[in-house]
Order: sequence, then C-alpha cells, then structure tokens
Amino acid sequence: MKIVTTIDELRGQLSGQLRTAFVPTMGNLHEGHLSLMRLASRHGDPVVASIFVNRLQFGPNEDFDKYPRTFEADCEKLAREGVYVLFAPDEKELYPEPQEYRVQPPHDLGDILEGHFRPGFFVGVSTVVLKLFSCVQPRAAVFGKKDYQQLMVIRNMCRQLALPTQIVAAETVRAEDGLALSSRNGYLSAAERAEAPQLLRMLNRVAERVRAGDGTVQSIEQDVMTEIGARGWKPDYISVRKRMNLRPPTEAEVQQGEPLVVLAAARLGATRLIDNLEI
Ligand code: PAF
Repeated sequence: MKIVTTIDELRGQLSGQLRTAFVPTMGNLHEGHLSLMRLASRHGDPVVASIFVNRLQFGPNEDFDKYPRTFEADCEKLAREGVYVLFAPDEKELYPEPQEYRVQPPHDLGDILEGHFRPGFFVGVSTVVLKLFSCVQPRAAVFGKKDYQQLMVIRNMCRQLALPTQIVAAETVRAEDGLALSSRNGYLSAAERAEAPQLLRMLNRVAERVRAGDGTVQSIEQDVMTEIGARGWKPDYISVRKRMNLRPPTEAEVQQGEPLVVLAAARLGATRLIDNLEI
C-alpha cells in the first residue's frame, strides 16, 4: 500500500485510473470500516482510502482533540485489505488557507436530526467530502448506513452538483450483541458497553410498534424516549422518518406502507451514540 500525504503525490499515483473506488474515513478503523473497503473493491479498482480528522465537522464543544488517532494500526489493517493508496493529508495540506468556500446542504436535510444537535456538522462533512472527491476523482465512493443522514446528504450533493461519483451504501456492521460498530464505542466504560445495545433494542421496539400500528408515530417515539431516559440515557432524538427525504411521515403515509427509517442519537454517560433501523 502506498501512503501519500500530498494532493500532488495522490494525483501522480492515480493518474490514468478511471475506475477508482474511494472510502473516506477519519481513522481509528474497525471492522465496520474494513467492510466498506471490501465493498469498495466490488465497485472499482484500485481502492483508495483516506484518513483525515476533519476539524470543520466538529463543533466547539466536541471531541476533535480527543478523537482517537491510531495511524500505524490503521495502516496495517488497510494494507491487509488490499487498499492500493492511503491518502493521509495533514491539515495544512487539505486546508492551506481558511476554507471559505463551503458546501451548504439544504436546511430541511442538513439542519434536522444530527444537523440540529450538531450545527454546522453537515457543512463540514459535505465540504471535506467534495474536496476529497476533487483530489481522488473516484468513480464510486462507499459510505456506511450507520451514518444514515450523512449518506443521504452526500448522495444528494453528488446528484445536485452532477458529480461523476456513484455513492454506494454499506450495511451497518454490529457486534454480536447488536451494538453498531463505531470509533466512539472505545469511550464507553465496561458498564456502559453492557448497556449500549439497548439503543438497538429501542429502535426495534419502535419498528415493531410502528409496523403493528400500536399508537401514533409521535406517541411511540415519546414512549421510547421516556423508556431509554429511565435507563439513564440522555436521548437527543428517536425519530421515525421517511427514507426518501428524512421528513416525518403523516399517519396516512405510515398506514400506506411508506418506506421508513427510525433514527436515534443518545448520550450514555459522556459518549454520544447514534444508530438507525429501516422499517
Ligand atoms: O464518516 C466519517 O468518518 C466522516 O464524516 C467522513 C465522511 C470521513 C468525512 O470526514
């Protein structure tokens, strides 16, 4: 695997490649990321990964400095997966001057759910992803469904800006007890780790009740927020949305079988976990 840190070197390595498949990451790689690499290899060749902890997507009180950086171990994992090039720029390379041109997702997608609780998050994500795409020029790029809203924001950005990159969605990888793999799981204490799979159980409860028509969507969301709160979690949202655009469904749409997804974000101790389930 070639490790390149500048845009010039990256372009040199990739010149003439028309079928590149790309997986952007912020490092601290786990099995979930590696499954993205494997899916990428089915959608193009060579596979290029990036590791860049993107300051633009962190709020002032978020964990940018604390974000786990495990570069050596990440490189070994990527090499084992057969990744051809790892692009690992530093901040001066990717943001040599203040990044004043930014991508603003539409408010009704970018400022809801995660965007509501993390203002500016999707501006930061969209901007870095567009810039990374401009560096790598991938034919395909893989994003996990674990970050459901991010996947949708990026997919819509590519469509609206007519980018020549196909966005491929990867299923969420879970631990045996159901907890979605995430770099942030490493922050959990042993007791919190044992409690963490409850988030998926709550999502399943919402899904079962919605399918069974056991109450209005709003009442189901409220019951489950109360239930998880009683277990000591601090939920930001547990919300049933239309898969198409992440807007809340009407009761008529629910009854007519509109494809839905339930998304959740909740704090367990100091760690904020997110997850989702398609209904
Ligand atoms: O999902 C992530 O790890 C990040 O948001 C991404 C897509 C690499 C952009 O920094």
